Amino acid sequence: MKICIDCDDAAVNLKKVLYDHLKSKGIDITDLDYSASKNGAMYPEIGFNLAKQIQAGNYDRGISICGTGLGMAMIANKVEGVYAGVCHDVFSAERLRKSNDAQVITMGERVIGPELAKTIIDAWLVSEFQGGGSTAKVEQMRELEKKSFHP
Ligand code: RB5
Repeated sequence: MKICIDCDDAAVNLKKVLYDHLKSKGIDITDLDYSASKNGAMYPEIGFNLAKQIQAGNYDRGISICGTGLGMAMIANKVEGVYAGVCHDVFSAERLRKSNDAQVITMGERVIGPELAKTIIDAWLVSEFQGGGSTAKVEQMRELEKKSFHP
């Protein structure tokens, strides 16, 4: 599984913590580091860049971090075929994969501490879409998404 990660200026510390954590577990993780190419980059363009990488199939999943996780989720969900949710607890992170089949998890450095963030990411990593009763719901979301992007 290939994972990418990025953050805005409000989440530099948490990005490093999670990147190092996943790297130490042998996970194939890439820091997109959008801000390195554009000084003063703001969360919409950073999150958009990450979501476009997911849309292009360059990575299976993404971790997008800002102060709250909210802005990163909002912008990722504006990219067709990309689904994101804010998770600051383990149960939500598991459901994001198992029920919602989302590829992007977002978090806020101003909301949670590094140890909880690592635990959440570990649970998210081993969670996969379970189908079953969730399939029709996810399919309906994709149908409605088509209407929105291609009215
Ligand atoms: C800071 O720019 C803050 O607005 C941002 O990191 C994020 O929390 C937005 O949702």
